[in-house]
Amino acid sequence: MVDISTTLSGIKLDNPVIPASGTFGFGYEFADYYDINILGSISFKGTTAEPRFGNPTPRIAECTEGLINSVGLQNPGVEKVVNEELPHLAKFYKKPLIANISGFSLDEYKLCAEKMDAVDQVGIIEVNISCPNVHGGGISFGTNAAAAASVAKTVRSVTNKPVYIKLTPNVTDITEIARAVEAEGADGISMINTLLGMRINLKTKKPVIANKMGGFSGPAIFPVACRMIYQVYEAVNIPIIGMGGVRSADDVIELMLAGASAVQVGAENLVNPYACKDIIEALPEACEKYGINKLSDIIGGAH
Ligand code: FUM
Repeated sequence: MVDISTTLSGIKLDNPVIPASGTFGFGYEFADYYDINILGSISFKGTTAEPRFGNPTPRIAECTEGLINSVGLQNPGVEKVVNEELPHLAKFYKKPLIANISGFSLDEYKLCAEKMDAVDQVGIIEVNISCPNVHGGGISFGTNAAAAASVAKTVRSVTNKPVYIKLTPNVTDITEIARAVEAEGADGISMINTLLGMRINLKTKKPVIANKMGGFSGPAIFPVACRMIYQVYEAVNIPIIGMGGVRSADDVIELMLAGASAVQVGAENLVNPYACKDIIEALPEACEKYGINKLSDIIGGAH
C-alpha cells in the first residue's frame, strides 16, 4: 500500500493535493460534485481587508494550454469570510485550511492575518504577494526583496500559525525573494503564481482583457514552475507548496521531485471540477509505476 501522505509545518495531509486559491471558491461550492474531505487541504479564495468587486470584464482570455485571468481579487472581505464563508465550509470540510490573504498595505496584511489567526479551521496562512491584477498591492510587494520581507515580518508578528509566502515568477531571481522572506520568519513558500500575459483581439485590435494584462496559468507554465521550485529548494530550508499548470498525478510527482512538499492544482479546476479528485485517485498507481512506496520520501529527490 503506497503512502501518499505528506506534512506541511507539522500538519499532516492525507495527500499532497490542494486546490489553489482563486480556482475553488470557498470550497463548499465543490461539495455537490464529490466529498471534498478527500483533499489534502483547500486554499480558499484570496481574502482582503475590505470587500472587492474585482476588475471590469472581460477578465478571462483563453490561450493555448492555459488562460489569462484578471479577476482582481474579488471577495466579500475578511469579516464576511470569517463569519459566513468559513462556518459554511466547516459543514463540508473537516481538515485544516489554507487561508490565502492579500493586501494593499502592511496594515491590511496584518489585519487579515490577525483575523485568520483566530479561526480554528485555519492551519496555514498563505500570504499572497504576487497578484498581478491589482495596483498598489499584490505583486508590487512580491517583486522587491525588501518589500516581500516586510510583509513576511508583519504577518509573522501577529500569528502563531505557519506563514507561507506566495511568490510571483515575474522576477529576475526568485531565490532572492525566497531567501528574504525566510530570513523574516516565513515557515514556507507557495509558488508559482501566474505569469504576466496578454492577448489582443485581431478583430477589434484591442486587448482581450479590460485590464489589458493578466495572470497566465495552466499547463503551459508547468516547466517554469518546475524550474523555479527546483531553484528555490536549493536556496531555502523551508517547505515549498508547488503549483503552476498541474493537471495529473505525474505532474504532482514531478514537482515533488523538484522540491515541493505539497502541490496545488489551479487552472485545471476550471476545466474539470473533478481534477483534484482524479489526481488523488491516480496518485497511488502513479507511485507504483515509478517505484515509490512513500511519496514524501521523494521530496527534492531530483537534486
Ligand atoms: O486577480 C486575482 O484575483 C488573482 C489573484 C492572483 O493571481 O493572485
